[in-house]
Amino acid sequence: MHTELRRLSEELRIPERLAHLLGPLLTAVRSTPGAPDRIRVVDVGCGLGHVVRWLAAHDVLGPDVELVGVDLHADLHAALVAEATRLAEDENLPCRFVRANAFRLDDTTPEATTAQGAATRAATVYISTAHIDAPSSEPDSSGAGTPRG
Ligand SMILES: C[S@@+](CC[C@H](N)C(=O)[O-])C[C@H]1O[C@@H](n2cnc3c(N)ncnc32)[C@H](O)[C@@H]1O
Repeated sequence: MHTELRRLSEELRIPERLAHLLGPLLTAVRSTPGAPDRIRVVDVGCGLGHVVRWLAAHDVLGPDVELVGVDLHADLHAALVAEATRLAEDENLPCRFVRANAFRLDDTTPEATTAQGAATRAATVYISTAHIDAPSSEPDSSGAGTPRG
């Protein structure tokens, strides 16, 4: 199913359209007073992560943008996140994938710490091309998480 979704997405040029929509939005975020140092774009319900991987491969959103895909933690979906991560690593793409529930994303914290230890302010923009379900049970704690910096 996810392979077919990716094929349809490519045929309909969904990643390009999203990039086209995101451009002015990110420009507006960057021009706000007290603009963030960086912007995190999170694809919720990312499946195999083809949208995030396309955005990373084409480097269209800018060097201040971090790309994250999240998908629900369950056996099948954990496999999706793992496969998305593997595909991104194979292509050496600057993006990452996290198991997380769309209803429990907790990523509004403006402060994040860089590898150098300097505090930076990040804004988060959520996108999705998924039908989001309310899971009947909570994900366990093994590897599940929120897309923190
Ligand atoms: C129809 S697929 C779409 C996948 C991808 N966005 C695409 O366009 O190919 C829906 C995805 O949303 C994920 N999903 C559904 N409910 C979710 C939730 N509550 N939190 C996170 N992901 C969820 C599913 O695991 C699945 O991978």
